[in-house]
Amino acid sequence: MSRVKADHQPMIYAVGGGKGGVGKSVIAANLGAALALLGRRVVLFDADLGGANLHTFLGMSSPALGIGTFLSGKVGRLDEVAVDTSVESLRLISGAGAGLETANLKYAQKSKILRHLRKLDADEVILDIGAGSSFNVLDFFLAADQGILVLVPEPTSVENAYHFLKSAFYRTMKDTEPKGQIRQILSRVRGELEARGIHSPRELVEQISREDLEAGMSLERSLKAFRPGVLINRVREPGDRRLGDDVSLACRDYFGTGVSALGSLDYDSLVHQSIVRRRPILELFPGTAFARGIMSLGERLLRGSG
Ligand SMILES: Nc1ncnc2c1ncn2[C@@H]1O[C@H](COP(=O)(O)OP(=O)(O)O)[C@@H](O)[C@H]1O
Ligand SMILES: [Mg+2]
Repeated sequence: MSRVKADHQPMIYAVGGGKGGVGKSVIAANLGAALALLGRRVVLFDADLGGANLHTFLGMSSPALGIGTFLSGKVGRLDEVAVDTSVESLRLISGAGAGLETANLKYAQKSKILRHLRKLDADEVILDIGAGSSFNVLDFFLAADQGILVLVPEPTSVENAYHFLKSAFYRTMKDTEPKGQIRQILSRVRGELEARGIHSPRELVEQISREDLEAGMSLERSLKAFRPGVLINRVREPGDRRLGDDVSLACRDYFGTGVSALGSLDYDSLVHQSIVRRRPILELFPGTAFARGIMSLGERLLRGSG
């Protein structure tokens, strides 16, 4: 992950995971607080438009200004709808009241948001992208400089995470130029490989390179940028911690591309307490395991050694 950005553009992180209830929002809110405490100017964007609740994690009632205000054209810049939170240097763009689901965002609306996120007056931007693997959810994840895929040590979560990564991988392939040509080769070669019982994404790219070297090289180039990180949340036993490395190794084999392990966060009953009290855990219980884990994740991300 490179932290060298042109024109002082913010570094963009996206917190996703395919599955609901794994801790995406609590992690996004607290990572925002952690990066702000580490001296960065941070904006959180609640991109989970159907279930926007980041404001609640920060003790705010649904802000009057938010992404809906921006999309309606009442203001020209996203900075104008980024409201201050109780944490210094941490602002929030609320997704509440937008009146639509992320999956239903029109292409033009999504492109406008993505373009303007880069123009925010901030050092770090964190997107809480919500559950599911719809195209819009994937596009927010893929537009980030660093995707953070949250998993919990449960088979259903691991399954959803693989599904999410696979969908994101194919989305990246289909978006590679020359799009028309690549999509055509992709659908033909995919069918042939499936008929022969071979269908890992890595084998698919290898087969495309054999058939069309230029398309293969173009794909290799764009897939190099596909480097999400996996973060294991709600760790209860030492063995759970290894899941990140296991998933990252399995992905290297399956996708042929680097999925990095971003470490883990402990199961911590004070997380529930902090949510009920609507405050970042970093403010309420800074010494607790989850808070320390989030701070150390923030430090690692800032060093660019995710
Ligand atoms: N590390 C943790 N330890 C204990 N409980 C956690 C932890 N992370 C998340 N939770 C619990 O999981 C629930 C879901 O978290 P949330 O961030 O809303 O998930 P998501 O945004 O992925 O749907 C919360 O109610 C919270 O109490
Ligand atoms: Mg959430």
